[in-house]
This record gives sequence, C-alpha cells and structure tokens, in this order.
Amino acid sequence: MMMSKLFLNGCPVLKVKIINPMLLKALPVLLFITAYAYAGDYDAGKRKAFICAECHGERGNSVLGIYPNLAGQKYEYFVSALSAYKSGLRNNEIMQAMVMNLSQQDIQNLAAYFSQKSCNN
Ligand code: HEC
Repeated sequence: MMMSKLFLNGCPVLKVKIINPMLLKALPVLLFITAYAYAGDYDAGKRKAFICAECHGERGNSVLGIYPNLAGQKYEYFVSALSAYKSGLRNNEIMQAMVMNLSQQDIQNLAAYFSQKSCNN
C-alpha cells in the first residue's frame, strides 16, 4: 500500500493512503453503475430515430427553430427528459404522444444515438 504525507509549513500533518482498499472493493460496483448508465444501444437507437427526424432532423439537428436540437445532448439528460414526458412530469402534447410507445430500452437506445451525434452532423 502506498503512503503519502501531506505537509504544512514543512511539517507532515497527515498520512494518506493513496490506494484505499475500500475504493478497490467499490470498483466493480462503480464500473457496473457506469455501464448501466450507458445501457443504450447506438445502432438500435439509430434505427428508431427516423420517427424523430420529421421534427428534430435526421441526425438530431432540427431545421425549424421551434424544435430543439438533439445532437450532442447529454445521455442522462436525454433519458430524464423523455422519462419526464412519459410520466407527465414534463407537459408537452407532441412529445407525450411520441414517448407513449417507447420502452425504457428504446429511450436509452435513442439517448445513445443522439448523444453521440455532433452539432454539425
Ligand atoms: C412532431 C414533432 C416532434 C417529433 C416527431 C418528435 N419530437 Fe421531440 N420535441 C418536439 C418539441 C416541440 C419539443 C419541445 C417540447 C417542450 O417544450 O417540452 C421536443 C422536445 C424533445 C426533447 C427535449 C429536448 C430538451 O432540450 O429538453 C427530447 C429529448 C426529444 N424531443 C426527443 C425526441 C425523440 C427521441 C423523438 C422520436 C422518438 C422525438 N423527440 C420526436 C417535437 C417533436
């Protein structure tokens, strides 16, 4: 185990273990959470995205100012926005109709797709 000392005015004030065994134990859990957070499938999202293209553009860059761009949107934000339409927490008739038939997996797939698109296509 590596040890390191913190110095204040040249005096050691604290010994710090660089590798904390608790963190090592938590690592698989952290990796699992990260993997879960990006559980969307890009290709499946791409196949589904044609439904959205009419308003948000084929790759998530909308043509009309009344429709938000989706390209480059953060994965987590995207999932929470669509979930909010689905639960009614976010109220918009158009988007509520759009998400009605989307499963949680569809939402994650769409998020994976649009979050990886860039603003200039
Ligand atoms: C008929 C037009 C239309 C279609 C089709 C459509 N949307 Fe939307 N979408 C909108 C409008 C309008 C808004 C803004 C609604 C609001 O003010 O909350 C929006 C908002 C969103 C937002 C929130 C954006 C933000 O910045 O908060 C997301 C995410 C989104 N749409 C995803 C999708 C996805 C994914 C699809 C396809 C499954 C889709 N939309 C299909 C019109 C559409």
